[in-house]
Amino acid sequence: MLSLLLIVVFASRGFALDNGLALTPPMGWMHWQRFRCLIDCDAYPDECISENLFKTMADKMAEEGYLGAGYDHLIIDDCWMGEHRDAQGRLQPNSTRFPSGIKALSDYVHSKGLKFGIYSDYGTKTCAGYPGSHGHLETDAQTFADWGVDYLKLDGCYADLDDLEPGYIQMGKYLNQTGRPIVYSCSWPAYQEPKGIKPNYTALRDTCNLWRNWDDIDDTWSNVTNILKWFSENQDRIAEFSGPGHWNDPDMLIIGNFGLSYEQSKAQMALWAIMAAPLIMSVDLRTIEPKFRDILLNREVIKINQDALGIQGRLITTIKKIDVWTKPILPNEGAPSYAVGFLSNRVDGYPYRLNVTLAQLGINQAEKYKIQDVFDPMTREVSQNETIFVRVKPTGVVLLTATPILDKQK
Ligand code: GLA
Repeated sequence: MLSLLLIVVFASRGFALDNGLALTPPMGWMHWQRFRCLIDCDAYPDECISENLFKTMADKMAEEGYLGAGYDHLIIDDCWMGEHRDAQGRLQPNSTRFPSGIKALSDYVHSKGLKFGIYSDYGTKTCAGYPGSHGHLETDAQTFADWGVDYLKLDGCYADLDDLEPGYIQMGKYLNQTGRPIVYSCSWPAYQEPKGIKPNYTALRDTCNLWRNWDDIDDTWSNVTNILKWFSENQDRIAEFSGPGHWNDPDMLIIGNFGLSYEQSKAQMALWAIMAAPLIMSVDLRTIEPKFRDILLNREVIKINQDALGIQGRLITTIKKIDVWTKPILPNEGAPSYAVGFLSNRVDGYPYRLNVTLAQLGINQAEKYKIQDVFDPMTREVSQNETIFVRVKPTGVVLLTATPILDKQK
């Protein structure tokens, strides 16, 4: 009787991704934001999408502290493929730009202690026009497993909107079937949400390790703030679906490129940490300026992002054009700790002084807290009703942690 019941329960649950991966938000490097579909290796030999580019980035990740800080995936985005499948119907790389083949590249990446990620598209073509996986899902899942792929970004261009959810679920089954644990990054909400279709977030949570919700990030501050706006406006609908093994994905970090100032770069890092977002860099690691590198490698911010509770932080309030976001984090010994991000939408030139109490922000489960400033080291003890003074630079951020001071005698 019990076994019958179990069969019924499992059958009714249907497919659920259970690969044990991404228990904290995935971290890594992906080429798209910085290198796009640059395939002219004659004109730009050091920048074109080729095995050389990925080998060089793998070297940098391993040698310059990125891997040590947790950025452990190197992910190829679009434009790696040849124009056609091979005689057996398998995807193949462009043979000029990837003369050694993908398996050799994957071996190289693994030899550096990194995990290897790749891109394909559920539809008939990738967004850049290369062969899509439609009609080839099982073959492609097996090809990726044979190549030692550890992470798949499956895009959703050139596909029917109605077909996306069942198709991605089917691909998840084929990935599982290979027996190789592969982080599964889905994109179907990014195609449905802008059309006003509300994706099935329960299915996403059960199918994918992460999913792109919204528009592509480009290299400007307004892109960052537009994404934050969408995430905050929709937080009550989507935040609960993020957690260990399954994450909302607001897209890549653009830190170290052309569009963000130093303060804005800290702000993107802080807010991505608070949202428990995947931390996927996309920057030229050969030329990144040290001050941007230091932001990406800031261990305290990464710790907030990688907090084991995996709670997606939320916008709590906006005071004098400063958005205040909070995220419950560990330790929680009777009362939660928090990360608190103050993001300024002000442009009036000087570091604005905001007077606020923790209790005003809903941080009132303990009487006293230890406050630490993540980017500008400072530690203070405050009671929940005491005014704290925060100075936030224009379009910049202040990131604090608040840890309860508990009276152990009680
Ligand atoms: C879509 C995705 C991007 C990138 C490109 C590649 O736009 O959202 O992240 O993968 O396709 O063509």
